[in-house]
Amino acid sequence: MRKFVLAVMAAGTISASAQKFEGLAPTPPMGWNSWNKFACDVNEALIRRTADAMVESGMKDAGYRYVVIDDCWHGTRDSLGFIRPDPERFPSGMKALADYIHSKGLKFGIYSDAGWKTCGGRPGSRGREYQDAMTYARWGVDYLKYDWCNTEGLNAEGAYLTMRDALHAAGRPIVFSLCEWGNNKPWDWGKNVGHLWRTTGDIWPCFDCVKDHGTWKSWGVMQIVDMQKGLRVHAGPDHWNDPDMMEVGNGMSADEDRAHFSMWCMLAAPLIAGNDLMNMSKETCGILTNREAIAVNQDRLGIQGFRYGEEDGVEIWFKPLADGDWAVCFLNRGTSVQSVNFPWKERAVTDSLSGRDAAFATVKYRIKNLWAGKDAGTTRKPLSVEVQPHDVALFRLSPVK
Ligand code: GLA
Repeated sequence: MRKFVLAVMAAGTISASAQKFEGLAPTPPMGWNSWNKFACDVNEALIRRTADAMVESGMKDAGYRYVVIDDCWHGTRDSLGFIRPDPERFPSGMKALADYIHSKGLKFGIYSDAGWKTCGGRPGSRGREYQDAMTYARWGVDYLKYDWCNTEGLNAEGAYLTMRDALHAAGRPIVFSLCEWGNNKPWDWGKNVGHLWRTTGDIWPCFDCVKDHGTWKSWGVMQIVDMQKGLRVHAGPDHWNDPDMMEVGNGMSADEDRAHFSMWCMLAAPLIAGNDLMNMSKETCGILTNREAIAVNQDRLGIQGFRYGEEDGVEIWFKPLADGDWAVCFLNRGTSVQSVNFPWKERAVTDSLSGRDAAFATVKYRIKNLWAGKDAGTTRKPLSVEVQPHDVALFRLSPVK
């Protein structure tokens, strides 16, 4: 009886003190994930060389940190139930891989699933949450992406809370990335559970299409952008909407990649590259490392941008930034060039979420074109710009004091 009381008390202590690790993602996490390009074809050499490339390409200097192995790294569980990596793909083990990634000043991420099996059919964490969290902590994991396949009978919030508590009990600060595809509205309950949550099903490397896989669909960049409607109020420092990992460098045109990247910056989305970093073109690297675009994404206010409206055939998005600045993005979703004329002083741009008012009638802003890398005058005169099909014009406005 006494033993029973003690056990109950101990369990009570765990849940009372459990919480997510606070402060791990004050700005949207930046990194790389294996899935979009390599799917199940992962191994330790690929991950090491990707870490090398993250440093050598300048991505690390631009702010990218997490190197995340997605599905299919798993082998079998041992006789006590501890998960082991696939011995052929990861012969040196996960601790050695984590050490290597850490030696480069980078952080190590891994993937699991709340169900019996991952989406790729590998062992899931259901019923093994505390054991797996402890294993990840021992290996030196810094980031866990936790998927939602094969979860029959589970309640999403409950399942993610269990893993949150397990990670906390394991004691190592680990960014917790909820990959539940938006099915159970994670934006309503995710803030105290994880640091980011997927808002949609999987992305597909096309600008404007739906890919039908038969039993499920994946989504082009524009489809995903549209699915973010109404969600910005839920995001902020340490709790981000995640419109999925990027497809920059995975087959779209440079214009489309630029538009995709710009929109992820405007949406304060996690910037998780999904391309082959070892063999990327200069153009792809240039897009992923545009520091001024990244600064829009990483702005310390952490306010997700909003769609202001549509004029001259383009969508206009605004994002309030620190120190009175704004980002503005003209998105051409169509297939012909659009000539934009935007008379700042005649437009009222206010944001009830941040309480900000651009007050163009009274405040003059200096304009910087973030892809041309050039100053573009001030908001005293209407902006005149041509936007290519499937491309953007992205600007930063700074008040002239
Ligand atoms: C799901 C996720 C993807 C990826 C795969 C792996 O589809 O949404 O991002 O992790 O599983 O199997």
